[in-house]
Order: sequence, then structure tokens, then C-alpha cells
Amino acid sequence: MFQALNSPIKNWQGKRVWLVGASSGIGAALARAFLDAGATVALSARRTTQLEAVANNHPNALVLPFDVQDKTAWADAHEKIKTSFGACDLVLFCAARYKPERSWEMQSDDVAETLKTNLHSVYEGLCVLIPSMIARGSGGIGIVASVAGYVGLPNASVYGPSKAALINLSELLYCDLHSKNINVYLINPGFVKTELTEKNSFFMPALQTPEQAASAILRGMEKGQFEIHFPRRFTNFLKLLQLFPYRSRFYLFQRFLTQE
Ligand SMILES: NC(=O)c1ccc[n+]([C@@H]2O[C@H](COP(=O)([O-])OP(=O)(O)OC[C@H]3O[C@@H](n4cnc5c(N)ncnc54)[C@H](OP(=O)(O)O)[C@@H]3O)[C@@H](O)[C@H]2O)c1
Repeated sequence: MFQALNSPIKNWQGKRVWLVGASSGIGAALARAFLDAGATVALSARRTTQLEAVANNHPNALVLPFDVQDKTAWADAHEKIKTSFGACDLVLFCAARYKPERSWEMQSDDVAETLKTNLHSVYEGLCVLIPSMIARGSGGIGIVASVAGYVGLPNASVYGPSKAALINLSELLYCDLHSKNINVYLINPGFVKTELTEKNSFFMPALQTPEQAASAILRGMEKGQFEIHFPRRFTNFLKLLQLFPYRSRFYLFQRFLTQE
């Protein structure tokens, strides 16, 4: 009953990892951590120069730039990975865009852009990867959502719902794929200092470095956790907040998170 929800990973040596969103922030730190641990890593995002800088000519790194919104690019990139690595043991969906905005500031084109990048692109990738993982009888899928998906937070008008959907998706994927020997990880970081959060003008409690985030993610996978959330002192508080009645939750948000 209390055994790990995923198979613990004892050794990264030779594991074939595909990191989507590896050109900066958490994805870049993860790529370096996986390479240091002995994994073979495909690095994807749009900015080729940044990907090459992260890969740093490592013999086990494959730079594979593409735009996650491009449906055909997913299948092309997957084919290249199969040609180079044979298969993919673990894919990490890390790409995202974020714009702090209140609901009255939303612009429909921009909403679509965020939903396509953060949510629809994950479906594009899953449609390509799941059948091949099932056919092989093994694999791993890590979805980077966010604590912003736990509760409806003002300022995260589009980003928050995109991450809430990813949390829901990860849960159902686990139920679908566990019996098929495919590990599913839901990764919910708190605040991490990256290009994404540098747009925030508010105080970010328990802010971590991308390297701390990468280390927490690797340790979580090594333990076989389903949900990997960090730092616990912040994420556990938000989990508690989910249990608050709406009346108290809304009071706290209006009192502390909105300035009008
Ligand atoms: N930082 C935090 O506090 C925090 C907290 C919770 C969750 N997260 C999540 O952690 C993940 C990584 O975020 P981060 O903080 O490390 O931000 P980041 O440094 O801005 O990284 C975002 C990554 O997504 C890629 N990306 C964006 N749009 C793309 C597209 N259309 N096609 C391909 N790649 C695209 C970017 O690369 P290119 O621009 O080169 O394409 C970049 O590699 C995201 O899923 C984010 O939501 C972050």
C-alpha cells in the first residue's frame, strides 16, 4: 500500500532523457544535472544557441530545436531521437510561457498562445510518445505543472488554469499508464528564479535556484514519487490552502494578493 507509486530510478547511467524546454531555467538545470548523472539527453526548445550552450559539446547531448506548437515537429524530433538513441526512456515537458495578468487584461490571441504552449503542446507530444512507449512496454513521462495550478490565484489568469489542467492530466495518465509499465511524474515547483519569474513584481516566498529545483526533481524520481513538489515549506502551505472553505480562501487572496 505504501510502496513508491513509480519505479524508483537507482541509476541514471545510460537513461535516454528528452527534455523539452531545456534552453533556460529549470529545464536547462535539469539537462545539466541529467548529463552529470550519466544520462543521454536530447535538449529541445526554440533557441538553438542557448540549447548548444547548455549542451556544452557534451558527448551524450543531442540538440534538437523545435517549436512545441508545431504539431509535425514533435513526430520529426521523436524520429531523430529514435535514430540517435534507439528510444526515449523519459520525456520531461518543461516548456511554458507566463504573463502575469488580471482577468480584465487578457487578450484572446495571447490566451491562445499560452494555452497552446503550456497545454496543447503536451497533448501533441503525448500523442506521439504514448503509443511508442506502450509498444515498448516501458517509458516515463514527467509533466512540469506548478503550484499555481493548485488554487485559482489572481494574476495567473491563463497560466494558472493551464497548469491546473496539467495536474488533472498527469493524474489520469498515471491511472492509465501505470499498469503498462510507464512511470508518470507530476512536478509542481514553487517559485524558482528563472526568466519566467523575472516578470513578477511581487515578493516570491521560498524562492529557489534552478539547480535546487533540478536536484529536487531528480531526487523525487529516484524515490519513485508521483508528485514531486518543492520546497515543501511553501508547497505544503498551498496544499493546506486548497482545503480552506472558499469564503476564507477568497478573503485571504483579496486581502493579500490583490491591490486595487
Ligand atoms: N520558475 C518558476 O517559479 C516555476 C514555478 C512553477 C512551475 N514552473 C514551470 O517550470 C517550467 C520551466 O520554467 P522556467 O521557470 O524554467 O522558465 P523559463 O526559463 O522561461 O523556461 C521556459 C522554457 O520553455 C521553452 N519554451 C517556451 N515556449 C516554447 C515553444 N513555443 N517551443 C519550445 N520551447 C518553448 C523556452 O525555450 P525557448 O524560448 O528557447 O523556446 C524555455 O526553455 C515551466 O513549465 C514553468 O511553468 C516554473
